[in-house]
Amino acid sequence: MSITDEEAVARSGEPERTARPRTVLMCRPEHFAVVYRINPWMNPGLPTDTSLAVRQWQRLHDTYRELGFDVRLIEPLEGLPDMIYAANGGFVIGNVAYGASFAYPERRPEGPAYMDWFRANGYEVIVPEQVNEGEGDFLLVGDTILAGTGFRSSDASHDELARVFGREVLTLRLTDPSFYHLDTALAVLDSTPGQEHIAYLPSAFDPPSRARLEERFPDAILVTDTDAAVLGLNAFSDGRNVVIASRAAGFAAQLREHGYDPIGVDLSELLLGGGGVKCCTLELRR
Ligand code: ARG
Repeated sequence: MSITDEEAVARSGEPERTARPRTVLMCRPEHFAVVYRINPWMNPGLPTDTSLAVRQWQRLHDTYRELGFDVRLIEPLEGLPDMIYAANGGFVIGNVAYGASFAYPERRPEGPAYMDWFRANGYEVIVPEQVNEGEGDFLLVGDTILAGTGFRSSDASHDELARVFGREVLTLRLTDPSFYHLDTALAVLDSTPGQEHIAYLPSAFDPPSRARLEERFPDAILVTDTDAAVLGLNAFSDGRNVVIASRAAGFAAQLREHGYDPIGVDLSELLLGGGGVKCCTLELRR
């Protein structure tokens, strides 16, 4: 006799997963191209297909809408091809938006562009003093902000972040250039206080950071190099539905075992810039 997914999950001892539709900010990749190289995924010598990028992005956008998300859009600016990776535009909790200050000059004008959007949409904007790349490196789980450093966001930005939001910030040091932002190496699956759950790639972190993750998240999902190499961890969860790279088949199976519903989306074109699902998504936490 076959059992339902719910029964299988109940027997496995995993909690029932609850979807809470999110509000997110996205940027249509109308000006997508790879014209410089600031991470190992980027190769300006390879052709890119902007219309394919837009179609793939549209699938992601429509998937969020189907999940009941409120999807907000920021106007893409010509000359800023990486602006489509909205996650880097800032870090938002409630009415407060901590702006981004990009590590590489190619992306620096994106900081003010996103801060303008936040102001125009009623947010209190904190202009950053320290180099940081927003939600690319900062992820809220429970009441703690996990903060990446090593390639982009500076250590000093972690202190600034803690002061701005008055929350605990857990510093995690990235060591593999292919996983240069925290959201390429770690995914928050459930951010509800009391049932925090994450997935990550252990080899992307230095040993002390790995030890901190093991201690804080003993039940985390550890993904394989194969799934991480297609940016499988660059995923966005509403607590139950987890939108991931369609090629991350192993991670999808792990998610199902833990009671989540993985939804695969193909963003092969945006991967040429070194970004995936989560990079295209900035959460506007209410
Ligand atoms: N080309 C962009 C960069 O290297 C990709 C950003 C990806 N964003 C992210 N949140 N990981 O800055």
